[in-house]
Amino acid sequence: MRSHYCGAITTTNLDQEVTICGWIHKRRDHGGVIFLDVRDIKGLCQAVINPDNAESFAIAETLRNEFVVEISGIVRARLEGTANKNMTTGEIELEAQNIKILSKAVTPVFPLDDYQDVNEDVRLKNRFLDLRRPEMNQRIVTRSKITSAVRNYLDEKEFHEIETPILTKATPEGARDFVLPSRVQSGKFFALPQSPQLFKQLLMMGGLDKYYQIARCFRDEDLRADRQPEFTQIDIEASFIDQNYIMEVGEDMISLLIEKFCGDRLDKFPILDWHDSMRDYGCDKPDLRIPLKLVEISDLVKDEEFKVFAEPAKNDNSRVVALKIPGGNSLSRGQIDEYTNFVSKLGAKGLAYIKVNDVSDMENGLQSPILKFLKPETIASLISELGLKNDDLLFFGAGKKSVVNLSMSSLIKKIGEDLDLFTSKWAPCWVVDFPMFEKNGEGNLTSLHHPFTLPKCSSNELEESPEIAIAHAYDIVLNGYEIGGGSLRVFDAEMQEAIFKILNISKEEADSKFGFLLKALSSGCPPHGGIAFGLDRIVMLVTDTSNIRDVIAFPKTQSATCLLTDAPSKVDDAQLEELKIVSTHKED
Ligand code: AMO
Ligand code: AMP
Repeated sequence: MRSHYCGAITTTNLDQEVTICGWIHKRRDHGGVIFLDVRDIKGLCQAVINPDNAESFAIAETLRNEFVVEISGIVRARLEGTANKNMTTGEIELEAQNIKILSKAVTPVFPLDDYQDVNEDVRLKNRFLDLRRPEMNQRIVTRSKITSAVRNYLDEKEFHEIETPILTKATPEGARDFVLPSRVQSGKFFALPQSPQLFKQLLMMGGLDKYYQIARCFRDEDLRADRQPEFTQIDIEASFIDQNYIMEVGEDMISLLIEKFCGDRLDKFPILDWHDSMRDYGCDKPDLRIPLKLVEISDLVKDEEFKVFAEPAKNDNSRVVALKIPGGNSLSRGQIDEYTNFVSKLGAKGLAYIKVNDVSDMENGLQSPILKFLKPETIASLISELGLKNDDLLFFGAGKKSVVNLSMSSLIKKIGEDLDLFTSKWAPCWVVDFPMFEKNGEGNLTSLHHPFTLPKCSSNELEESPEIAIAHAYDIVLNGYEIGGGSLRVFDAEMQEAIFKILNISKEEADSKFGFLLKALSSGCPPHGGIAFGLDRIVMLVTDTSNIRDVIAFPKTQSATCLLTDAPSKVDDAQLEELKIVSTHKED
């Protein structure tokens, strides 16, 4: 149909006859001459229709935005003074000879000829229009190029791309499963994979040596700006390797993508111990572009009369931290109230602060509602230990570790953004040496990663003190996003059974859920390990958006629905009957 893309015609095509196809981006009638901006995936091209070409002119007069057309004509240089330097095709125009309307369009629900901030629900309901916007178009194309670069990289390293089932059994990755009823085996259900974890391990046991997959994963969990119920992993596994091998492959691949798509070279990624990361940043995905750290002050304040600090300082499950904001003194009372409100939404009971006006004058140089509660020696120690200077601001978080960590780590990221404290464009890091287990709300141990992670101790030691066991696990973090995580895996049945026991999974339950894995582990299993990267998050970072939906062609909303197709939706009674399913749902 077309001989050239609209956005690809240049002065090298002058006087050539070309045919372009695309959407009418804009039509302008100028004193008897009609100008059309025609748009395709590569950009815009201006076509000019003169009234002496009566047939084409008559068609051009009927054209409206978003009609799809085929136009052939001769490429001409634009008249002196009419060139548009902002357009790739700004120096040429197409003197149209023939115009064919390929398809008509109703008036679009939002304009595409002019950038407008459109409500996201409207964009998602009309995704076919939204995808025509150049920035969306480009993000989806970049995603495709990233996937292809990943494939090339891993193919070259002799990883084999292998598909694993979508209709499968539950994989414990910490979220709820999406389940699907089986018609043939009535009363039974498939689960959609939360990840290909067990299958990739079975592939190693099957002797496939090195595997990867651009794998779709499904998790029924609370959604956030960087989470979708259906998302894509770059899933990797290899045999007879150590942790360093996986970390090297992962680091190399991410560095390659950032260099190829953003033109930036990354230095060697720093490696943080999980405990240090929690202590210094309150989270295991610190944004190291922001030069702010928490300082533990429990020892300093544990003997104070001020109960807000003293009580958590004395409790093992609590902590008291200070966060120094250099130059933060200029924050207004209103801004401090906003931050207090921000942390209180995350469970914090308050956000004490000290403003430093003149550090040499303790009595009058500091400004804070809590000064009166603290001993002068304690204040002096705070000043020296935190190296306070004039114009600094100190925030304090005190309470349960989980609450302080969540609220103060979020505060670091918020202040970093609000005050634009970023010191670099990219800050990758590895976080390693995660604990094997953590306690859930009911006080039971659960896996921090998943139950197939290899501990750095023997199965006896693990059973004796599971709380202190460290895992051969590693996460990769970029600009505060966890873009990947993995581990070395348990490769013998005895250790796997010990872990199931600690997780309170009975022998019967383990056999029914993971019997196939235990059997395979006892049938000659190579030491193996791997990692999975969140492809969507990588594309978000590369294309500089903070909304995961912007990098997925057909994403779900925060309430896990597809506004375009209206899924999930009801099914016919006949279909339910065939599946022998009765819905107990009552309409509101
Ligand atoms: P994990 O659960 O850490 O590990 O997932 C790996 C990476 O996948 C991305 N990710 C998500 N992205 C978008 N939406 C979601 N809901 C979502 N959940 C996870 C993150 C995360 O780092 N089987 C293990 C990997 C392994 O051990 O090899 C796993 O799935 O970027
Ligand atoms: P209160 O005694 O509750 O009025 O608190 C005195 C000061 O301590 C106020 O500035 C509160 O914002 C602050 N504060 C209270 N609870 C906490 C907490 N858990 N962490 C940090 N600051 C707090």
